[in-house]
Amino acid sequence: MGSLVSTLISLAAAGTMMLSAPLNQAAPQHDVDGTLFLVNRQWRVHQYYVPEHMRQAEVTGQIRTMREEAAAALEAMYDACKKEAKVTLTSVSGYRSYTKQNNIYQNKLNSVGSKAKADEYVARPGASEHQLGMAMDVGQKDKVNLSASFGSTKGGKWVRENCWRFGFILRYDEGWEDVTGYNFEPWHVRYVGLEAAEALHENPMPFETYLLGLREERLYAMIQGASAGEE
Ligand code: DAL
Ligand code: ZN
Repeated sequence: MGSLVSTLISLAAAGTMMLSAPLNQAAPQHDVDGTLFLVNRQWRVHQYYVPEHMRQAEVTGQIRTMREEAAAALEAMYDACKKEAKVTLTSVSGYRSYTKQNNIYQNKLNSVGSKAKADEYVARPGASEHQLGMAMDVGQKDKVNLSASFGSTKGGKWVRENCWRFGFILRYDEGWEDVTGYNFEPWHVRYVGLEAAEALHENPMPFETYLLGLREERLYAMIQGASAGEE
């Protein structure tokens, strides 16, 4: 422990320039194209950010564009749901550009009348993970979509229990509103990859909380590596 403290002190003494480099590497936030990149009200993407390697997921529905790895995972998930639950899931909204998100936000603002209310439901442009191409609003054939009742449908329940097997998480779960900043959205899944999705299935928590823990772990490993090098 003594050497850990001395490493911390020497890192701090090295000045903020040197300190900020390892700190940034420990945060998933340094890589906008990374699977774990966080987007929320505080962490936004640039107006002109458009992910590379997107394609249309081969599923039924609208706005089916996603990043390649997320599209493949979505197809596998929808196939499995069809086989296991006999339910056809549909896509309602995948990738949305900054401009598209702006339109959706303005429409919501016009219908609810206040920014405070609109902010509970729709992310402001730049603050939506739909702009990453890693999110999908999942629907169910012949049902009312994008409503809390999706969570009580057979498909909604199946998605909640099984999306992790395909690398997705339910991003805005009930009870997490204070952390995520949004109302419960049982239809919105975010692709985070198999490892993180499995970890979050075993130990459910908001993505924000998970990333804080991950960053701490990475920092600790980095510091331990540095102090082992000193010995
Ligand atoms: N409804 C989610 C928060 C979005 O607009 O991205
Ligand atoms: Zn969504």
